[in-house]
Amino acid sequence: MISCRICETYIAPFMSFGKMPIANGFLTPDTYDSEYFFELAVGYCSNCQMVQLIEQPDRTKMFHDQYAYYSSISKRMREHFQKMVADIFARYPVSDNPFIVEIGSNDGILLQNIAQKNMHHLGVEPSKNVAQVAQDKGIQTINEFFDRHVAQNIASKHGQADIIFAANVMCHIPDIHSVVSGIKYLLKPKGIFVFEDPYLPDIIDKISYDQIYDEHVFYFSLTSLSHIFNLYDLEIIHVIPQDVHGGSMRYVVAQKNAYRLSEALVHQKQIEDQKKLNHASTFEQLRQNINGSKLQLMALLNDLQKQTKRVIGYGATSKSTTVINYCGINSHHIEFISDTTPIKQGKFTPGGHIPVRPYQAFSNNYPDYALLFAWNHKAEIMANEDAFSNSGGKWIVYVPSIQIF
Ligand code: SAH
Ligand code: TYD
Repeated sequence: MISCRICETYIAPFMSFGKMPIANGFLTPDTYDSEYFFELAVGYCSNCQMVQLIEQPDRTKMFHDQYAYYSSISKRMREHFQKMVADIFARYPVSDNPFIVEIGSNDGILLQNIAQKNMHHLGVEPSKNVAQVAQDKGIQTINEFFDRHVAQNIASKHGQADIIFAANVMCHIPDIHSVVSGIKYLLKPKGIFVFEDPYLPDIIDKISYDQIYDEHVFYFSLTSLSHIFNLYDLEIIHVIPQDVHGGSMRYVVAQKNAYRLSEALVHQKQIEDQKKLNHASTFEQLRQNINGSKLQLMALLNDLQKQTKRVIGYGATSKSTTVINYCGINSHHIEFISDTTPIKQGKFTPGGHIPVRPYQAFSNNYPDYALLFAWNHKAEIMANEDAFSNSGGKWIVYVPSIQIF
């Protein structure tokens, strides 16, 4: 049992994935002996409905100067954030000389669209290597973990913000009270806070259990988020479902009563109310579905191994760490994983110790099957990989179900 990080109600896990390493902790054989493991388990709060990890490793084990996730590697995501910025500025016009902040700005994938407009901006990014990439692009970035204290420092140096952005980072930070209180402090009276994260109902519907890993301490719904913002006199005023990262939700938050609530918000709340996100049976079903997905995937991989088919993994995603370790996939099942991120290449996957090789290792010698760990980038990848399919190669996906095509 732990206390809910939002409301302190006791919560019990509904599912454990067993011992898990750091999802982005790609490593070399000389460090296998000191590899860190923790128990990856999730529970839900029957009071505020927040789904959350029971235990999360210390943040410095995950976010440091060798952080392996470089946001700008995906063209689709570069386009996504360009459009996000354009859409937000169109819907919420800002003052003449606005100040824009981003939490978890990584290599500047979003803020570059603001910097190009010569707008006053600041990124807050604790992982030094990716922060450096943004700084090299001329994007103002401080190398810090955002919290209430950092928010106060920013406000005293730069003034309050017109817009605060945060993508795929709110769900990473266990002390969400400090973050939300910092946002409250930093936001102008008519300012908006725009963030997006993987959406719990999508995870449940698609059985995309690989979204569950160390960095993701929370699995948000509109209902659970409304609870925490309400405690700080903030409110969600609008939501827009997103198809990136396998199903995300964009939330627009403002000071209470500063804006009218959108119809989309009311509609989304009705959808969630039907999803029974506070029922034990919903999560028991999810647990069974996850187990079923594992059994089917392993039956397929074991069968292909018996047939001596060559299988490789496509995309050494953070998500794949959960799948590989929970299912027990090893280098007998998949020869290696192809990935375009230089910092991952030549290393081995966390826990499973499967080699990660550059893209050319795949394209120079096509396998019989490619297991699509980067399933959330399926459209982008399929558009580029006609030659593999034309060579007779087949794709394996496991979300929303095990399929070969
Ligand atoms: N926003 C980017 C990056 C998401 S990955 C995108 O959507 O692609 C999450 C990022 O948040 C990492 O770069 C990580 O270093 C950063 N991060 C983790 N904890 C943070 C905190 N407390 N404050 C600010 N950034 C944080
Ligand atoms: P992603 O699915 O965005 O995230 P996460 O790590 O959060 O699960 O990671 C995509 C990974 O896939 C990243 O390591 C880059 C790799 N990749 C390729 O190798 N080829 C591609 O065409 C794309 C789009 C991604």
